[in-house]
Amino acid sequence: MKIIHARDYDHMSRQAANIISAQVILKPNSVLGLATGASPIGTYRQLIEWYRKGDLDFGQVRTVNLDEYVGLAPEDEQSYACFMRRNFFDSVNIYPSNTYIPYGLNPNAEDECSRYDAVIRALGGIDLQLLGLGPNGHIGFNEPADFFTKGTHMVSLSEATIQANKRFFEKEEDVPRFAYTMGICDIMQAERVVMVVSGAAKAPVVRDAFFGPVTPRVPASILQLHKDFTLVADEEALSAC
Ligand code: F6R
Repeated sequence: MKIIHARDYDHMSRQAANIISAQVILKPNSVLGLATGASPIGTYRQLIEWYRKGDLDFGQVRTVNLDEYVGLAPEDEQSYACFMRRNFFDSVNIYPSNTYIPYGLNPNAEDECSRYDAVIRALGGIDLQLLGLGPNGHIGFNEPADFFTKGTHMVSLSEATIQANKRFFEKEEDVPRFAYTMGICDIMQAERVVMVVSGAAKAPVVRDAFFGPVTPRVPASILQLHKDFTLVADEEALSAC
């Protein structure tokens, strides 16, 4: 595990964007695993800037997102599909047909999860997976549990996650209660994993996940065992370590 100490959110975002940018330059048809949430927005912003300058080309890149809320259409403003278009896809030359996100409107969880795992397999796996860190240690929507779940699955979101995500919705009741998420195995099989974490509120969970025991009660702790994991965190996020 490597730790890159960033000064603040903007510095963290540039450092992470540098790693992703090197990945795309070295392997133009990379499969990038992508995340939503507040943490990676600055990284996407930086990648867009370099694309606009002509330094990056996403023409051959394929992307697979970590998760999607169950019950939201890709057109829904609150869906992760919409988040990705708004914050990244619409501003770079990625082909929409090369972007994959679980389909929130598939009512058949078993069918959707096996379909998504087949998508990841057909792409040949993930070259670089970008992650954020949930306040309870979740990655994707792999919530604290008694065991690690391997493949894509449907989760019932924990109260902590509902509380953390309500800031993106008008009312707490609007936060969907279920999501489809890639599993721990899908994430661990990525060639490379990069996590961005910022802010003092995440300091306790950064300590528990990366300086404590590996346990499914803190799902991100499994990344300690990944062969190429880089944590890009700012001073505040590292302040409890
Ligand atoms: C989002 C995702 C989540 C977030 C996590 C942190 O696709 O998979 O695991 O990365 O909830 O969210 P932020 O960055 O908003 O603190």
